[in-house]
Amino acid sequence: MSRTRVAVLFFILGLIVLPLAVYVYFALGSPPVAVADTPFPFEDRVVRVPLQARIRREMPDSAPIQPTDENLNTGAQIYQDKCEICHGIAGESSEIGGRMFPRAPELFAKHGKGAVGVSDDPVGETYWKVKNGIRLTGMPSYEKALTDTQIWQVSLLLSRADKPLPAEAARTVGLAH
Ligand code: HEC
Repeated sequence: MSRTRVAVLFFILGLIVLPLAVYVYFALGSPPVAVADTPFPFEDRVVRVPLQARIRREMPDSAPIQPTDENLNTGAQIYQDKCEICHGIAGESSEIGGRMFPRAPELFAKHGKGAVGVSDDPVGETYWKVKNGIRLTGMPSYEKALTDTQIWQVSLLLSRADKPLPAEAARTVGLAH
């Protein structure tokens, strides 16, 4: 056999053997499936890169509603009803959010340089995530459960979590007593 033929033969064998090896690993090896398992190498990147690219393409530049007291108070009510169970409130973390994989971040906890939750993300990005959900993470899509205005109200609230909130909203999310 000529060298080229041998090369082609190995190439074709490779095409068959490689997917087979991957299948055998998934079926018989112990890939991470439990919350406490160590993630795959690059697992985070594999998920984040396409998510960020999609959000950047689709997210609105700005909110169509203003952060009035009424909108922020309603946003806090929505947060208490739908989100607190996984994301907790200030000073009271969720009982289940930290035991998920990926874990549900605490959206009223301080981190980094003075940011609180996702206050350092553009509001349009948070709106996208709440509306569409994040596949394979446990973050639900609220497109059918909330109106567009309600999604904006809770997104505006989260984007201003590092700023003083109206008294009622602050009480609801545990920032004032
Ligand atoms: C069943 C649990 C659950 C509920 C209920 C839930 N979330 Fe989440 N959420 C998650 C998880 C898990 C993640 C992490 C996803 C990830 O790592 O990509 C997440 C991520 C997010 C993020 C992105 C955080 C970041 O750091 O980028 C935002 C914003 C968010 N949720 C907002 C909300 C809002 C608003 C609600 C209520 C309307 C809500 N979530 C309800 C589980 C939940």
